[in-house]
Amino acid sequence: MSAPLVLGPLVLGIESSCDETAVALVRADRRILAQRIASQDEAHRPFGGVVPELAARAHADRLAPMIEAVLAEAGIALNDVDAIAGTAGPGLIGGVMVGLVTAKALAYAANKPLIAVNHLEGHALSPRLAEASLAFPYLLLLVSGGHCQLLGVEGVGRYRRLATTIDDAVGEAFDKSAKVLGLGFPGGPALERTARGGNPARFALPRPLVGSVDPHFSFAGLKSAVLRARAGIAEASTQDISDLAASFQQAATDCLVDRTARAILAFPQATALVVAGGVAANQTIRGALSTLAGAHGLPFVAPPLWLCTDNAAMIAWAGQERLALGDIDDLHAPARPRWPLDPHAEAARGAGVKA
Ligand code: KG4
Ligand code: ZN
Repeated sequence: MSAPLVLGPLVLGIESSCDETAVALVRADRRILAQRIASQDEAHRPFGGVVPELAARAHADRLAPMIEAVLAEAGIALNDVDAIAGTAGPGLIGGVMVGLVTAKALAYAANKPLIAVNHLEGHALSPRLAEASLAFPYLLLLVSGGHCQLLGVEGVGRYRRLATTIDDAVGEAFDKSAKVLGLGFPGGPALERTARGGNPARFALPRPLVGSVDPHFSFAGLKSAVLRARAGIAEASTQDISDLAASFQQAATDCLVDRTARAILAFPQATALVVAGGVAANQTIRGALSTLAGAHGLPFVAPPLWLCTDNAAMIAWAGQERLALGDIDDLHAPARPRWPLDPHAEAARGAGVKA
């Protein structure tokens, strides 16, 4: 008889912190055995944004059948899973509680370890799921709907926050600008599509904080400038809207590139420039960051598009990374609406209440 194949542990991941319900089974060798991502766009579209109560209910309705479907597709029984990883925050607390309580119930029922994952850590480590050769330390630009940060990723659980936004996250600026331009929900991908036919040089929009020494971000002024520019056109043509979308996208990209260039100087030990989070799906931003990395002699790593936006494979992967270090949680792990990756980071000067 031949020796059994050693495949490494298997982790079931659950994600429910915003408006995607997601479940995935990921092996330590990076194979995704099965996964489901259910978007709630239809439920939230009439409101032009995510309604927390609706999101929590949808997670509660969908999660159990999705877990069953993922296990069935992979031909795996719950008992064959080595650990359960569930997002424990930060995010919309109702949804986080639904996912975390589900993860705890499975861990308890099957007597498996629970790993309470920080959603931001899921994004931060997701490039290592896609790219086995990506080693620590790396410089990470983490750009999503709720966060806009530059982090020195020194190891699993070891994050140095180099910069954050003093007002809005860049994804929020994409979403709100898309709303002003009448592009619907979700805004980021719609704005990118509309910008494709537009002239990025037509509207002179501001680039807040560009040139400042600290690598922090600011997007509120840019968002307001889009609103003013739109109000200044009485009967906007399709071309006007495309030009304004392209001008916004270019201004946002310029801000991200300038701030990231500062952070490269502040974190010279980085072996790669990495981008993650929903906004990392944007092709203009990916292209500009790739050029920046090249200019500094750094490899550029960006996860595939589906792994940039919210999913459970990144949560299962973060679970794998922590399981390998023996870093597991007990069933008292709390659900956290806020949970900074770097607990020692000070608030950025001029910042409001955001973590
Ligand atoms: O990481 P994510 O899926 O959820 C959060 O954790 O926030 O990020 C969602 C954000 C939204 O603001 C969405 O508009 C933005 O990512 N986004 C994009 C694109 N795809 C998603 N922004 C710009 N261009 C895109 N292609
Ligand atoms: Zn996210």
